Amino acid sequence: MSPRLSQELIDKIRESNDIVELISEYIPLKRRGKNWFGLCPFHTEKTPSFSVNQEKQIYHCFGCGAGGNIFTFLMEHEKMGFGEALRFLARRANIQIPQYGVPRQENDLLFKANQFALSFYQSKLNSSSKAKGYLQERGYGEELWQEFKLGYAPPGWDNLLGEAKRRFLPPDLLFKVGLAVKSQKGSGYYDRFRDRLIFPIFNLSGGVVAFGGRTFPGAEEPKYLNTNETPIYHKGSLLYAIFNTKEHIRKKGWALVVEGYTDLLTLYQAGFRNVVASLGTSLTSGQAKLLSRYASKAVISYDADSAGEEASQRGVELLLEAGLEVELITLPPGEDPDGLVRKGKDRFAKCVEEPENFLDSRLRRLKAKHDTTTVAGKMRTIREIGSTLAYIKDPLRRRLWVKRAAQSLHIEEDLISSSLQQKGGENTSPPLRVPDRAEVAVLGYLLSHPQKAGWVKERLEIDELRSSQVAQLLSSIYQTTQRGEEFSPASLIDEHPELSGLITQASFGGEEPEEALTDYVRAIKVEALKRKMAQLKSQMEELEERGEEIKEEELMREYQRLSSQLKESA
Ligand code: CTP
Ligand code: MN
Repeated sequence: MSPRLSQELIDKIRESNDIVELISEYIPLKRRGKNWFGLCPFHTEKTPSFSVNQEKQIYHCFGCGAGGNIFTFLMEHEKMGFGEALRFLARRANIQIPQYGVPRQENDLLFKANQFALSFYQSKLNSSSKAKGYLQERGYGEELWQEFKLGYAPPGWDNLLGEAKRRFLPPDLLFKVGLAVKSQKGSGYYDRFRDRLIFPIFNLSGGVVAFGGRTFPGAEEPKYLNTNETPIYHKGSLLYAIFNTKEHIRKKGWALVVEGYTDLLTLYQAGFRNVVASLGTSLTSGQAKLLSRYASKAVISYDADSAGEEASQRGVELLLEAGLEVELITLPPGEDPDGLVRKGKDRFAKCVEEPENFLDSRLRRLKAKHDTTTVAGKMRTIREIGSTLAYIKDPLRRRLWVKRAAQSLHIEEDLISSSLQQKGGENTSPPLRVPDRAEVAVLGYLLSHPQKAGWVKERLEIDELRSSQVAQLLSSIYQTTQRGEEFSPASLIDEHPELSGLITQASFGGEEPEEALTDYVRAIKVEALKRKMAQLKSQMEELEERGEEIKEEELMREYQRLSSQLKESA
């Protein structure tokens, strides 16, 4: 088994090596302005269009579009695996990395600290009528909160720290597991969780490795706080509640995949026990692989809002890549599984009985997005379907889905097969559709001015973007910012290696003035409005043909609303 390294250590390894130095060992680079140039090692060329940026620690080829950070360079050029590249670069920078995880004693201490906190929070829940009242109000029975060992962190800055002190557990240890925070001034610490409901997170063997804490209604933001990654907790490779539900999943052979802790608990209590939740992030490939150990099919049931839909569509590809069959449940607009079950468990059960397979779901979305009666629209649809189907590794399974896609689109199978793109190896990123210039520019601006992410987030919805790739990256950026964490081009590449070319392209886009950002955002919004209006228009025409006047009128009002919005923003 290869050891898993913490994100912190990965960052350290990346930051302790210099990309210009490394790449120079393979190809000659010459400095020109801020960047270094050389002949691209990934395609044949006579004049150098391969460029390396030392400040951002990334490379990008303006000829073939290849791009990435120091890890992807070794992976693509030297055909190393990610672990191999890490070890190689750690050795190069004289960084010790644990051979088989961190030394046992240190792990034991981290578990001990978490176990202590778990008991503390559980006992506080037992004696808090407020916390118990809230759980009751949400319909969670005592049996449930015992089984999932829910807890309560009382208000105050040092309840946990104080109790730890009495038991000779050093504050530094609580800090290491993320339960204590260093105060700005001085060397003090304070409790991370204050007046929050606690959701402990368990690993596959039932050890407590992390915590999430929810505020009570009307209290401080953010709604959820989570402890950080540690040597015993890697959120990208663990699923919430998998320890409690894995046997149910194994028996059924399939699993429901939900977004939130509360969705999971409500479903579990209602008898849907083959369920897991991703951990505050969108699903990762590590989580998909973990699930594939127990299930052969995943049924995604995310919130029925645009963020949930976007996240589902991304989850689809990772789950397909892990070899799972994928289906999706569409809940009524605005609902999440928790809400729907509380309105009636049968209503959710009914949705579970009629899931949609990933292909139909994707086609339905694509048909809404592109006008498939035109050649251009059909081409776009085929390309996007092709790029999704390319994630299916098993050739037979892939061919069967290609066949179904072709039938649905009323086209020849080979039109889809030929759009499958050379995604053969893990290393080749598919040359996908060129995203909008404005969208790439916004992405590029944020990569050099991360502090503007909040500003953009307030103005630009993910579903206003046309490029699903930019959408993925922007939504990652939004989430990272929301968690109060930092991002850089190089860290974003670690998160989305398959989109590294786009990240570096955006990042090399050159400096733009701040006013340009406002213009780009406005342009994107205007385009989105126009698309939405065009879509409404064709819907109205359809209704008119069918003589459904009432619905048409509704759409007409919506159309007029959008139209005046468009005038305002023009
Ligand atoms: N989440 C997080 N940090 C946030 C917001 C959300 O980690 N600031 C994660 C949590 O794991 C949460 C999940 O994302 O369970 C889904 O978020 P959301 O839908 O907002 O919360 P719910 O689970 O629906 O919580 P509730 O029903 O209590 O509002
Ligand atoms: Mn909810």
